[in-house]
Amino acid sequence: MAEALRIGIAGLGTVGASVARVLRDKSAELTRQCGREIVVTAVSARDRSRDRGVDLGGAKWFDDPIELAEKADIDVFVELIGGDEGAARSCVSAALDAGRHVVTANKALLAKHGVALAEVAEKKGVLLNYEAAVAGGIPVIKTMREAMAGNSVNRVFGILNGTCNYILTRMEAEGLTFEACLKDAQRLGYAEADPTFDIEGNDTAHKLAILTSLAFGTRIASDDIYLEGISNITQADIRAAGELGYRIKLLGVAQRTESGIEQRVHPTMVPTASVIAQVHGVTNAVAIETDILGELLLSGPGAGGNATASAVVGDIADIAKSRPGFQHGPVFGRPAKELRPYKKAQMRSHAGGYFIRLTVHDRTGVFAAIAKRMADNDISLESIVQHANGSDGATQKTVILVTHETTEAAVRKAVDGVTKDGHLTDKPQVIRIERAG
Ligand code: HSE
Repeated sequence: MAEALRIGIAGLGTVGASVARVLRDKSAELTRQCGREIVVTAVSARDRSRDRGVDLGGAKWFDDPIELAEKADIDVFVELIGGDEGAARSCVSAALDAGRHVVTANKALLAKHGVALAEVAEKKGVLLNYEAAVAGGIPVIKTMREAMAGNSVNRVFGILNGTCNYILTRMEAEGLTFEACLKDAQRLGYAEADPTFDIEGNDTAHKLAILTSLAFGTRIASDDIYLEGISNITQADIRAAGELGYRIKLLGVAQRTESGIEQRVHPTMVPTASVIAQVHGVTNAVAIETDILGELLLSGPGAGGNATASAVVGDIADIAKSRPGFQHGPVFGRPAKELRPYKKAQMRSHAGGYFIRLTVHDRTGVFAAIAKRMADNDISLESIVQHANGSDGATQKTVILVTHETTEAAVRKAVDGVTKDGHLTDKPQVIRIERAG
């Protein structure tokens, strides 16, 4: 049997501890599959004394993850610290420079420095595997990087944040508040250390940036993503969406357009009957549309210790199965030096249908004024619904418009116009509608 593969794990939080447990519990099966043992020989974390439910006594402890990356007797460095700079970036760079394979779940790091790190890995002839960085346990990286060669992608979109999907699902199903659902997501270990990264869409954006690069062969452009989170979504939006045959999901979408590539993260209305609308709770889903394959939809657990550990262990096993002299594939599906510059499509030119919810004074002429603003901007309406707010004597009404396909620029101009008319009693809500099968 080949020599054991020696693993060093930096970061022993929810995911790190789960990885250590899976490697221990599945040791015999992994040895059979890989033809060699996988042994954790070194670890590093902030708190040495914490009980993580797994005995790491056989592994050498390093207080400094960079020292582990550079000096430990390991073949693979597993980075589970998180963050796009600081210790995570330094130790991944150090491990690659030292010619060690790296496995990471760090989407923020890859979204910012992925191409530079890929260049080092490819120069050194080592693997940089990151399946767990996007959509938790779903093998979307392997699918896009390896199984879709020759396909031209037109659009990739999905539910990429388990925390947000969990919150939206429970708000709809149980009528709970946003805050109560977020608390539960944190308790269950789905949320990031700073949950604003989840709810404001940054985490989805990091994952989308990686998928965009794989889909279109472009350099990663995480700063060029239009970003809106879910913290403004109310029960009123969720109910109105349901009445109109839609469900609200936080989607990341990357799409090829005539003017460039559109990357956007925002709450989105998807038809209730669509497959992606059936993706509930912490589950993630990624839809990929290509010229050869057509539409592929992958769905599965998107967050939490076990789901993420499954992807990390899969990446480690791939390295265990590789043999010296084996030519390792490029990190982003094509050599990092060949990734094309990213050409950004302007968000104002985004075309699609829109849901607009307006809270207005209940007085004569308001409805007509809204309709005029829409017509002035060439916006054709699919439906208009008006609700009285509260009791009979209420002085406010809710007007909900659904538009046919139009542009972001036209909708913004029309809604600005309605706001200037002085009929609104609250901030307008605009939610994009996404075509989904
Ligand atoms: N906070 C992330 C989520 C974890 O909720 O999806 C997985 O990246």
